Amino acid sequence: MDGSDTVVSGPVTYNRIEVTPIAGTMGAEITGANLADLDDETYGELYNAWLRYQVVVFRDQDITPDEQLAFALRFGKIHHHPYMKGMDDHPDILEIIKEAGDNYTFGAAWHTDQMFNPQPAKATMLYAKETPSAGGDTMFSNMHDAYNGLSDAMKEMLSDVKTWCVGDRFKLSGKSARQDRYGGNKAMASKVKDPGNLQTESAHPLFRTHPETGRIALYIGNHAQTFEGFNDAEAEPLMQFLRDHSIRPEFTCRVNWKPGTLTLWDNRCVQHYAVPDYNERRRMHRITIAGDTPF
Ligand code: SIN
Repeated sequence: MDGSDTVVSGPVTYNRIEVTPIAGTMGAEITGANLADLDDETYGELYNAWLRYQVVVFRDQDITPDEQLAFALRFGKIHHHPYMKGMDDHPDILEIIKEAGDNYTFGAAWHTDQMFNPQPAKATMLYAKETPSAGGDTMFSNMHDAYNGLSDAMKEMLSDVKTWCVGDRFKLSGKSARQDRYGGNKAMASKVKDPGNLQTESAHPLFRTHPETGRIALYIGNHAQTFEGFNDAEAEPLMQFLRDHSIRPEFTCRVNWKPGTLTLWDNRCVQHYAVPDYNERRRMHRITIAGDTPF
């Protein structure tokens, strides 16, 4: 496997949807899909477009929490967050609210979801309910292009490296521990019947192979703390280089939200960053889909 774009390159014809790229590296807006009522052919096309574009955006969707959950369940089981509680009446959905005057912005660091878990989230679906008049975008970075942008020497040197990933008290995040901020570790476990594996520390390959496309991605984000078997003095400069490299502007796209926008991204090959550049209410409904063990 050389990481080239074999599976998702070449022209594709869609019969049910229209796909408009939003950046050179990845990301597309999709029209022609009503997410509240999707037939199998339309779902199949949008799934393929999602694998190809990694981040897909649907505008003007009017869906209930039950309809969002039904759409999410087509992609797989729900992945539950170890630190955050879901909505009272829909524990599979996290409501992310930032009010005017709040200092903390959930997701305002480059990361890929639940990388600290042995089976990190496959996909995340975020649905905008209330949005600021300007700002509050989410940025995404293409980890296949980040991998392909490394020199052959760097790829070879790091080819067998594993990162050690931590979900709380990690070096690069804010000052308070997440289990204090969100009211208790394993909070979700009390809310759903089958919370799954809530482990919050794991090792993962630095270069992971996408299980569906076969493409290789640089798998890094703010949960990755060190390289297994390296001492800090060795690992930190390399990790800092990789973090900076992975978010080069040419690897990114950006989604601006309006109420009714739903964006779905592939955590196996995408990092994201919630831009904290606003001081108004923003309310989103977020569901994560369970993934498998990275290899
Ligand atoms: C997240 O990190 O999942 C939140 C992204 C956002 O709110 O824009």
